[in-house]
Amino acid sequence: MWMVTGGAGYIGSHVLRALRAGGEAVMVYDDLSTGSADRVPDGVPLVVGSVLDGAGLEAAMREHAVEGVLHIAAKKQVGESVEQPLHYYRENVAGLTTLLEAMAATGADRLVFSSSAAVYGMPDVDLVTEDTPCEPINPYGETKLIGEWLIRAAARAHGIRAAALRYFNVAGAASPELADAGVFNLIPMVFERLEAGKAPLIFGDTYPTPDGTCVRDFIHVSDIASAHLAAAVRLRDAEAGTMLTLNIGRGEGSSVRETVERIIKITGAAGAVPEVVDARPGDPARVVASADRIERQLGWSARYGLDVMIESAWHGWRLRHP
Ligand SMILES: NC(=O)c1ccc[n+]([C@@H]2O[C@H](COP(=O)([O-])OP(=O)(O)OC[C@H]3O[C@@H](n4cnc5c(N)ncnc54)[C@H](O)[C@@H]3O)[C@@H](O)[C@H]2O)c1
Repeated sequence: MWMVTGGAGYIGSHVLRALRAGGEAVMVYDDLSTGSADRVPDGVPLVVGSVLDGAGLEAAMREHAVEGVLHIAAKKQVGESVEQPLHYYRENVAGLTTLLEAMAATGADRLVFSSSAAVYGMPDVDLVTEDTPCEPINPYGETKLIGEWLIRAAARAHGIRAAALRYFNVAGAASPELADAGVFNLIPMVFERLEAGKAPLIFGDTYPTPDGTCVRDFIHVSDIASAHLAAAVRLRDAEAGTMLTLNIGRGEGSSVRETVERIIKITGAAGAVPEVVDARPGDPARVVASADRIERQLGWSARYGLDVMIESAWHGWRLRHP
């Protein structure tokens, strides 16, 4: 049985569906702080509890005979992590430590970890490989990088087999009710502006990129989910102590201007004209994954393009904002 922490959230709810479709047994452990129980399908056990509660984790893992964990639960807002670093370190680092202790105590020895491109900080390269230096520039990114270190050490010491998946810019939804409920990323931020009858904002257009706006690697959440299934299957036969570190991206960049223009077209907001405002501190010019290693090691590559991501995110937005 796989335990999916954070399975009631945006990415976790997609991951548990992909695992089930792949024939894997799953249960969810989630404190519902940002997730919602109705994202967990019938027939999947849900234990409501925090990953900071070691006794609660151990009880759930023993009750459901958990052999492996997909640790997706975390706090994920960069700005909030700057304002409340101690909260982020507690949730993301102490939470992971507690989970690793529960794994060591119960003998669960496979772990797939939600890491992030935020570990790279402001990479100054065309394509970010897993060997690009990690220099996170905010507490959120730091907690993800420290999480990878913790896992590597525990893998060596306790024979855990692990994969850290560094997601790039996640977008889209497999179905409208599973769409991201937050408004923290470019695509939902543009939806919100358009709905309010306001011009979508572009933060800076003098970056050293072809159209002067930032370039990002958007990846469909269903592709993120299928990568988790591939990693989980791969870990089954992996040697004790294995630690895979893999980017999950498309290896293709889209500029912010290009993305905003696609959104305007797809949502039918013809006539909307983006407004360029000051660049935000800490926004790197270009962050695009090299997705070669995951293709080589897991035979995985992304299937969906930007339009599908925007269309599916828009359907989800309309459901929440009728
Ligand atoms: N969404 C993105 O663009 C993105 C990009 C890179 C990495 N990530 C990572 O992916 C993971 C999932 O992100 P998401 O977008 O689905 O966020 P989300 O907020 O929708 O999901 C997080 C889930 O974890 C649960 N949770 C939070 N703290 C918990 C705790 N202490 N104990 C138990 N459950 C807890 C929440 O209730 C929620 O269901 C996070 O680790 C995040 O850092 C997300």
